[in-house]
Amino acid sequence: MNHEKIETNVGLLGVLTAIAISFGGLAEIVPLYFTGQVTEPAPGVEPYTALQLEGRDIYLREGCYVCHSQMIRPLRAETERYGHYSLAGESVYDHPFQFGSKRTGPDLARVGGRYSDEWHRIHLLNPRDVVPESNMPGFPWLDEQVIDAEKTGAKMRALRSVGVPYTDEQIAAAGEEVAGKTEMQALIGYLQGLGTASKTWN
Ligand code: HEC
Repeated sequence: MNHEKIETNVGLLGVLTAIAISFGGLAEIVPLYFTGQVTEPAPGVEPYTALQLEGRDIYLREGCYVCHSQMIRPLRAETERYGHYSLAGESVYDHPFQFGSKRTGPDLARVGGRYSDEWHRIHLLNPRDVVPESNMPGFPWLDEQVIDAEKTGAKMRALRSVGVPYTDEQIAAAGEEVAGKTEMQALIGYLQGLGTASKTWN
């Protein structure tokens, strides 16, 4: 039996073991050649401004990701509807990224610039005012609550420690940039930035 031959021949067993292990090694090593693509920002991608960053936190707090993905798959039906498929390099400054897969509502990866700020405001206050058949909930309190400008700089410093290249000047100016802004303004600023970098290469 072949099996017995291998088990009773140390040389053959050694060679076949080495071959088996090298497949495991390949599976580990080959992906490393592509890490550049997923850790380098795609062309035109910049870290969020202070206001957008605060808007992103509202997006997380309100659970927008529960119904909205931010990941356009490389499938015809998706690219026809939403635009160029998402690149890993578009999410390098997202901690954590918002890919998601649950789509009660449409994908938002390229929603920036699709509607006016005023459309977003009306839509977020009461979606049915602009999309009568919508089952998205309203978020009217966003228009009343003001951003806590004290914390913005600290959030940016924390992101810098995980690789987002904020400068000292940007961090110092953060509080002033968001002071007095409503959560609604911040969230709309964030939405209007989504996918806009792709317009330079798409
Ligand atoms: C319960 C599910 C649900 C939640 C939670 C939800 N949405 Fe929606 N959203 C929808 C649905 C359904 C639509 C499609 C109908 C419409 O346009 O209102 C939609 C549409 C949208 C659109 C328009 C997209 C387009 O391309 O036309 C935007 C922008 C949006 N939502 C943003 C948000 C934001 C920001 C939040 C969090 C504050 C949020 N949504 C929370 C379900 C949801």
